[in-house]
Formats: sequence, structure tokens, C-alpha cells
Amino acid sequence: MSVHTHQKTISVNDIRSRKNLAPLVCLTAYTTPMAKLLDPHCDLLLVGDSVGMVLYGMKSTLAVTVDMMINHANAVRRGSTSACVIVDLPFGSYQKSPEQAFETAARVMQESGCAGIKLEGGAEMAETISFLTSRGIPVLGHVGLMPQSVNTAGGFRAHGKEKDEADKIMMDAKAVADAGAFACVIEGTVEDVAHSITKAISIPTIGIGASAACDGQILVTDDLLGLFADFTPKFVKKYADLGSIISSAIEGYSKDVQSRTFPGPEHCFGVKKQA
Ligand code: KIV
Repeated sequence: MSVHTHQKTISVNDIRSRKNLAPLVCLTAYTTPMAKLLDPHCDLLLVGDSVGMVLYGMKSTLAVTVDMMINHANAVRRGSTSACVIVDLPFGSYQKSPEQAFETAARVMQESGCAGIKLEGGAEMAETISFLTSRGIPVLGHVGLMPQSVNTAGGFRAHGKEKDEADKIMMDAKAVADAGAFACVIEGTVEDVAHSITKAISIPTIGIGASAACDGQILVTDDLLGLFADFTPKFVKKYADLGSIISSAIEGYSKDVQSRTFPGPEHCFGVKKQA
């Protein structure tokens, strides 16, 4: 007898109501098979614009397009049942005006069926976040290190060490929360600043390189699996070294092909069994 359990999909409101409760488990996903593996363990799957660097070998996230995000969002949606699927708006698709952001976000939601979008930016994006949330688009904020601003913010470095910068990140997080975001990613930010923000705002904070003080954590999945070898930031814990496992598997395949030990009789059609 088969038992059908209808798993409930986690909504953005469920995520919002997890403030000060069990930590939110979040990861990036870009493909259907990976989403299937992650979904049972995650509250939120982010179709991050990190896809550009991780899957397409780009040097930054800046060249990622809306079409790429929609394609990967659809792939992730096909592989997920319970996790809340959120999609990054890529660089240049929302910063110009609240109207531009609405058009992009509405298209992403309509064409992918995702639960909401993420955009980078603090106080300068508050008007846009408020415009979107008051028109039915759930927004996940993103402050601290913002990869889309890497050219103006001085590269990939820890943020909030100096008081001025710490104050600015706090102001940004408050602006994002006041504008109606349902949660806020804090990236690459020193622990005491992430801790103070988490205490100060009423929505969950989701840290990446921002300490265990946050209400949840997110990592780029390929980093924690040891699949993205270009660079491993200090804040990544590698839970597996799949890169090495794949390398040795392929080395074995290559040797077998070269020595004609693959395919063996058991992999071939019409091979007579020897008596
Ligand atoms: O694009 C991404 O993967 C992200 C996470 C690192 C938060 O924004």
C-alpha cells in the first residue's frame, strides 16, 4: 500500500514568523536534481545569481540575465516540494526605478512560480522594496557584502569592521525591514554587527559569513559540497569533497576506456555468455 503525504509548501509568511525560533536552513539551488536532494532538508531554496559564477564560470554575478534566472528558477521549482523558492533579481534589472523592479519581479514570479524575489541593497532600495511588497511581491533583502556592488564597494572583504560601515549596515537592515521585506540576508559581515542587527529588526536575518547570531544560515551549495574549486571563502564549511570524488571517478572511466575494460560484457547487448 502506498501512503501519499501531501507536504505543505513553506510560505514567505512561515519564514517571516520564524524570528527568534528554530534557525532557518537555507541553501542555493540552480537545477532540478540538486533541488530534489536539498528540498527535504531546507526551509528556503535561493536561486541565487551566484549561478553565473558557479555554473557558467563567470568572474562575477554582473552578467547574469533575467532569462537565466527564470530558466534556473523553473528547474528548481520542478525539483522542490516543501521549501520556499526565492529568486535573485540580477544586476541592472531592478536598480533603475521601483517600476523597473516591479516589471522584472512580476515577470520572474509569473514565469517561474517562485514565492518571492531577493534584491541587494539597503536604504537606497527601501522605496523599491516598499513599492514591491505593497503590490504583492514578497522581498528578501540583502545587506552587508553585496556581490552586485563589488566594483564600487571594494571587492569581496569582511564588512562592518569600522564604526561608520557598521552603522551603515545597521541602517540598511532597518530600512529593508521597515520597507516590508519578509527576511534579510546579511553577507560577509562581522559578528557583533550581525548580532546587533538580528536583535534590532523584527524580521529574520539569514547569515552568510555573518556568524551564528543570525536567525538562519545560507551557503552556496556547491561551496559546502566541495564542487566549486575556484575559491573557498573563510566562512564556508566543506561538508564533502565531491570535486575529488568526481575527479577520481572520471579518472577510472578514462583508464577503463583506454584499456578497453569498459564496456564489459555486462554492459553490452547481444554478447554471448561463455560456457
Ligand atoms: O547569489 C547568491 O547565491 C546569494 C547568496 C550567496 C546569499 O545571494
